[in-house]
Amino acid sequence: MQGLTEVLFRKAFNRSFPGAFDYAISPFLSITHGNLRDAGKKVEDVLPEANYGSMPVVPQLLGHEANGFVELANRLFDLGYTEVNWNMGCPMRRVAAKHRGSGILPFPDEVRSILDFVAPRIKPSLSVKVRLGYRSDNEIDCIIPILNDFPLSSVTVHPRIGKQLYSGSPNLEKFEEILPCIKHHVVYNGDINTVYDYKRIRSRFPSVKDIMIGRGALYNPLLPSQIKEECASDFPSPNAPRPVASAAAFISSLMDDIRALEISDEAKCRKMKEYWCLLSKELPGTELNKRKVLHASRLDDIHNLILDMAK
Ligand SMILES: Cc1cc2nc3c(=O)[nH]c(=O)nc-3n(C[C@H](O)[C@H](O)[C@H](O)COP(=O)(O)O)c2cc1C
Repeated sequence: MQGLTEVLFRKAFNRSFPGAFDYAISPFLSITHGNLRDAGKKVEDVLPEANYGSMPVVPQLLGHEANGFVELANRLFDLGYTEVNWNMGCPMRRVAAKHRGSGILPFPDEVRSILDFVAPRIKPSLSVKVRLGYRSDNEIDCIIPILNDFPLSSVTVHPRIGKQLYSGSPNLEKFEEILPCIKHHVVYNGDINTVYDYKRIRSRFPSVKDIMIGRGALYNPLLPSQIKEECASDFPSPNAPRPVASAAAFISSLMDDIRALEISDEAKCRKMKEYWCLLSKELPGTELNKRKVLHASRLDDIHNLILDMAK
């Protein structure tokens, strides 16, 4: 997730909850950044040396420039990545307006011509992430036959449309309708915030074995381990990974990592507050106390308040 599940977070998470996630999809790398050597901070996020101690990661590409796609995918392969994921789900208006992310879903011919060009030229395997459409949930109906024509390693479906952003509920009826039409391995994504949510999706869609968790792991960092523990029988290994830290200890260790970053104090404050907004949801304590962090402006104050409340 852009700005949230970058390498700093992935490493801190893996330290506290080793093995809880099988792998992470990186926040998207914009194809327009082109050559990795010239690319900015976002590409640094997946450099293997920066990811030492992190969970396994699949880099995600966003954009529709076929040449740039091939160049970036092959460079990532040379760095050791055997899979890249194409983002056809991003709902941000400025992205979608350029036929990127979910903005490409109303244009099946463009999807086909990009895959026609890219699929035979890239060295890593390709997976995709889609929404049901940008404006309408029927747009996916024209996309699925195209996806079926290409050798994809998986299709992750977030059953909302781009225009919804993150509001409303995932459209599970439409997901149910399209599921048998997709010939690839399907991963479900959307609103898995509790173990119950996970079980509900698994029991309604038994053919779906893999679930992608987004915001739920930020509201409750223990969620992925809880799911694995509760549902150990669903997994090949009888030993579900056990968290080695509490949510509070994880938050403290993430905040220490932010504190150690080589960025301005202002940027550190911003980052701490961004994470705090999500991570504090499930922590005990009053809303008033939690909000104190958002009103504080000095790095030391913010850091100490968070550490105190996360104890
Ligand atoms: C702030 C934010 C940034 C996101 N960035 C990405 C991204 O870079 N790539 C991606 O595939 N999805 C991204 N997403 C979408 C999530 O991966 C996920 O599809 C969505 O939040 C629904 O799943 P959830 O209910 O489990 O969070 C982002 C979501 C949010 C809220």
